[in-house]
Amino acid sequence: MKLGFLASHGGSNMQAIIDACKSGELNATPAVIISNNAESGALAKARYEAIPHYHLSGKTHSSPEQLDQAILDTLLAHQVDIVILAGYMKKLGEQTLNRYAGAILNIHPALLPKFGGQGMYGIHVHEAVLAADEHETGATIHLVTEEYDTGAIIAQEKVRVIHGDTPKSLQDRVLKAEHALFKSILQNIAEGKICISGYKADY
Ligand code: GRF
Repeated sequence: MKLGFLASHGGSNMQAIIDACKSGELNATPAVIISNNAESGALAKARYEAIPHYHLSGKTHSSPEQLDQAILDTLLAHQVDIVILAGYMKKLGEQTLNRYAGAILNIHPALLPKFGGQGMYGIHVHEAVLAADEHETGATIHLVTEEYDTGAIIAQEKVRVIHGDTPKSLQDRVLKAEHALFKSILQNIAEGKICISGYKADY
C-alpha cells in the first residue's frame, strides 16, 4: 500500500506514519510527499527521510487546473494507492478528487461533525472546544470530498477535556491521539479490516 502525503506545515502526523512504516507496525510505504509550502517542516522531514518530495503550489503553477494536474500526475507517477492529507491547508482540485475518490483521507483535530468547516483549523479548533465547555474532544479520520470536513467518517478517537486545559495543552493531547489513530486505521485498511471504496487490500 503506497502512501502519498500532502502537508502544509510541520508534518508530525506524516512523521508518525513514516516511523510506523519503518518499524513494521504499519505495512505500507511512504511513496511521495507534496507540500504547498516550500519552507514546511514536512518537506524538511521528507528530505531527511530521503522520500521523494515536491513543492507544488500557486507559486509553481499559476492556474489551479495546472496545479491540480501536477498534483495528480505526481501521485500517479509514484503509484500512490492512498492519499493522506496531513495538515494540508488547501483544497484539492477536481481531477485529483475524482481519480482518488474513496482513497483520500484527512485527519481533523475534533469530533466531527462538531468543530469542522471553514476557519476550523489549528489552534482555533481547540479554542472553540474550550469556549463551548465541551467535556470531550478528539480526532476524526474521514474521506475527503470537495467540501471541508464533510466526507464519510472512518474513525474517531475521543480525548477528555481536563479542568485547566489551555488550547495548547488540548492540541498537544489531541495530536498524540491523531498519530495513534492514523497508524492504526491505515494498518486496518492495509489488512482489509476497514474497506474504503478507493482501495482494495490484497490480503
Ligand atoms: C493536525 O492537528 C490535523 O488534525 C490537522 O492539521 C494538523 C497537522 O499537524 N488537519 P501536523 O502537521 O501533522 O503536525
